[in-house]
Amino acid sequence: MKFKYVCIDCGKEFVTDEVIYQCPECAAKSKEGEFPRGYLKVIYDKEELRELGKKDHVSIYDFFPYDVPNKEVYPIGTTPIVKPMRLNAKLGLSNVYCKMDAYLPSGSFKDRASQLIAAQAIAHDTKKIALASTGNAGAAMSCAGAAYGLDIILFVPKTAPINKLMQSVLYGATVVPVDGTYDDAFLLSIAYTEHFGGINRNTAYNPMTIEGKKSISIELFEQLGRRIPDVVYVPVGDGCIISGVYKGFYDLMKAGLTDRIPHIVCSQSEKSNAISLAFATGQFKSIEASTRADSISVDIPASGRMAVQYLKQYDGWCTQVTEQEILDAQMKLVHDSGIFVEPASATAWAALEKDAPMLKQRFGSNVDVCVLLTGIGFKDMAVFDGRVSMPSPIENSVDAVIRRFS
Ligand SMILES: Cc1ncc(COP(=O)(O)O)c(C=O)c1O
Repeated sequence: MKFKYVCIDCGKEFVTDEVIYQCPECAAKSKEGEFPRGYLKVIYDKEELRELGKKDHVSIYDFFPYDVPNKEVYPIGTTPIVKPMRLNAKLGLSNVYCKMDAYLPSGSFKDRASQLIAAQAIAHDTKKIALASTGNAGAAMSCAGAAYGLDIILFVPKTAPINKLMQSVLYGATVVPVDGTYDDAFLLSIAYTEHFGGINRNTAYNPMTIEGKKSISIELFEQLGRRIPDVVYVPVGDGCIISGVYKGFYDLMKAGLTDRIPHIVCSQSEKSNAISLAFATGQFKSIEASTRADSISVDIPASGRMAVQYLKQYDGWCTQVTEQEILDAQMKLVHDSGIFVEPASATAWAALEKDAPMLKQRFGSNVDVCVLLTGIGFKDMAVFDGRVSMPSPIENSVDAVIRRFS
């Protein structure tokens, strides 16, 4: 589809076939200790969108700015919807369901963006893609790299969970652990592409990451029989996923396929709450994040300004939860519903639990709620150290079985 870029801060439009990342004037106004400025939104031709609105069925690829070649080598969507019946009963809500993006090829939502970035690289005839990641975006891009034969250069904080790093190593990426935070890795990866070329896939910095992520909303719309939920819970760090979720519903609305955007809830840990604070105060200040939910541990949210704009414009809100609430939610999901996710994802469930009484009061107990579960539990097994233990073995005899269960 034909598109242009629009700066979310000054509204300046950029029409180009080149790969661009930021509005140079606004980016230059970014200040240390504040959320960055000058990020770009992709806006489509109105007529083409309206034509899409006439179709009986839309695919996520109808709404993409690049053709995705050979989709079957790295397939994205349609991820299952799981209704956790036992947990719903406990909450007193009858219509809560989870969108299981943890089941994508590399085990996280980040595959959605990586597929489109791979398509962008192929369209621009380059094989090199660099990025920074807390772990999942790196694993996803590396997975796409293995599938399409692309070279991935990945900067990660050296403290990222080993399973996520090992995934990227196994997929064949060049992994560069950084003795610093995710935010440090972010800047180093930009320095890398400025110096050595290639596409930079940094989350939100490359506007195509949000375009890839928006596919969730388009997919969900068709999956629900051309309906949208009342409320969507999204785990938030950098704010790129939530901006993508909004963008998908926004494009559906511009196509005339929906007439509203759901209430979207920015679900954050109290120990990584930069976007929630900005939403409440109007000040875009960085923080020192320290949550155990490593995927959402972000000091300076790259997509923070866009996420806050969307939340304000479309009646979203922020719900913060404690570290204990996140870990408890992770346990409840796996133990009482068979849904095994990493702590970042569990943050969305924890936020829903916190909001449940308010949801019932405001919308009734039939409220249609989608909880976006973004990363699989196997990615971070160390988080269970000291929380669960493996039972000791019994001796190999029938007597031992009888003794064990008598
Ligand atoms: C599993 C998972 N959930 C949620 C998020 C949060 O996404 P964002 O940083 O775009 O807010 C991430 C980001 O890495 C993630 O990996």
